[in-house]
Amino acid sequence: MDIKFSNLAIQDVASDALVLGVAYRQTGERFPVLSQAARAVDDALGGLLQELFSSGEFKGDVAELTTVHTMGKLTTRRVVLVGLGKQERLQPLAIQRAYGAAARHVQQTGAHTIALASLLEDAPLDLETQTQAAIEGALLGVYTFKKYQQADARGNGRSITRIDIVASNSLHARLEPAMRRAIAFAEATNFTRDLVNEPPNVLTPTELANRASLIAKQFHLDFEALERPQMQELGMGGLLGVSQGSEEPARFIIMRYRGAPARSEKDITLLGKGITFDTGGISLKPAENMHKMKGDMAGAAAVIGAMYAIAALKPAINVTALVPTTENMPGGTAYRPGDILRIMNGKTIEIVNTDAEGRLVLADALSYAVLKEQATTIIDVATLTGGMVIALGSVMSGMFCNNDGLSAEIIEAGQRVGEKFWRMPLDDEYAEAIHSDVADIKQTGGRPASPVTAAKILEHFVGDARWAHLDIAGTNFSDSRKPYAENGATGVAARTLAELVLKRAKSV
Ligand code: BES
Ligand code: MN
Ligand code: ZN
Repeated sequence: MDIKFSNLAIQDVASDALVLGVAYRQTGERFPVLSQAARAVDDALGGLLQELFSSGEFKGDVAELTTVHTMGKLTTRRVVLVGLGKQERLQPLAIQRAYGAAARHVQQTGAHTIALASLLEDAPLDLETQTQAAIEGALLGVYTFKKYQQADARGNGRSITRIDIVASNSLHARLEPAMRRAIAFAEATNFTRDLVNEPPNVLTPTELANRASLIAKQFHLDFEALERPQMQELGMGGLLGVSQGSEEPARFIIMRYRGAPARSEKDITLLGKGITFDTGGISLKPAENMHKMKGDMAGAAAVIGAMYAIAALKPAINVTALVPTTENMPGGTAYRPGDILRIMNGKTIEIVNTDAEGRLVLADALSYAVLKEQATTIIDVATLTGGMVIALGSVMSGMFCNNDGLSAEIIEAGQRVGEKFWRMPLDDEYAEAIHSDVADIKQTGGRPASPVTAAKILEHFVGDARWAHLDIAGTNFSDSRKPYAENGATGVAARTLAELVLKRAKSV
């Protein structure tokens, strides 16, 4: 994909489609808010855009689309108008969805080149933020996963090869960093989506480690993938217990980005649940939706995707990623309900349901972060509980955090990249449900508040670190096709983590 600025006059833009974002203002009636570029297009088309608005045919709602053929009045063959919603409420998420829907729509018509032109000069968001959101949205919108299907007449569905950002020469230097961020963020998210969309016979723990190592090589990150003997040495009884029923060997992936010379309080450790397939184990899941459990490594994918964006953008901060990865399979050698496992920090867990495997592998990874890395700030990401899907659905991810500052950082970083997090409780009274009579902790607290009791288990392994746990069980996968995105993996959390790290690097 070729993405660059163009300073052509809007009449001379020669792309297959020119995408124009239009917001509205409302005082009684709705009035269109046209950028300079949109006004020039409107003039060339004899007031057509104004007419579409005043007739009520186009309202300007977020991601609403109308295509206008220019019939030689402009160099571009068609103009795609896309709504940005209410001007004073303009948010990165609305811009992303609008440009995502437009780019996706244009791609489906077989177009190869598009131009984006519609920075709103008079809006509550600065031009940098608008530019980043527009490019990011377009790149996220054209994502497809068709590598296992025979190519149809339009190839693999990724027909767009060039995006021109139309802006005057004087703005290019100012908007360049926003473009670079958008490209890194979108590529990282699409890489995350690829990992999650891959079938579980391809994306085994070994293959997940291979793909992480390729990223590490490309960006010169330190990389290690611990194997069984090292896990045994470290006493990772949770990860080893879960992997016991699988023929596929487990891995413990470590990636390190060093952007600052010395260690500091700013440094951050990211941690992702990497269950490449979750059958439930001996406590087998029902068949109906089991195939979706190929996505049970979405936390791992988000963390590796975040490392991609961080390594590409090179902020002045140190970041470590830890990924425990294994399958959860039933079988003659599988771990059982009733077993007691000892986690790396010495605490024991009474197994009551082998389907609650995520907290066990995360417990070892958190222990590793605290004991081996002396981590002071940890964020883990996991498709941890079905209860999270019930609580917040696919709109917001659940966030549990033992530190108000870190919680605010996550919510704000999410807002800037268009991802929503809702803070959930860690009240100590919830810990009563995970009391065990035979071990230090019982593995599950049953159905009531299951996302919370799962988080309370993780809390046993974070030591004194500032810690946040993101439960993305409901947000990592979309069953329905959206105008701005294919169904399947969403790539959620990769950008929020990367954005948080970039912001932290700049803070003092
Ligand atoms: N991977 C699942 C959670 C999940 C469910 C993710 C649905 C995405 C969609 C996890 O390992 C699991 O099975 N959790 C159980 C735990 C229970 C047995 C205590 C759950 O939440 O139902
Ligand atoms: Mn499970
Ligand atoms: Zn799971």
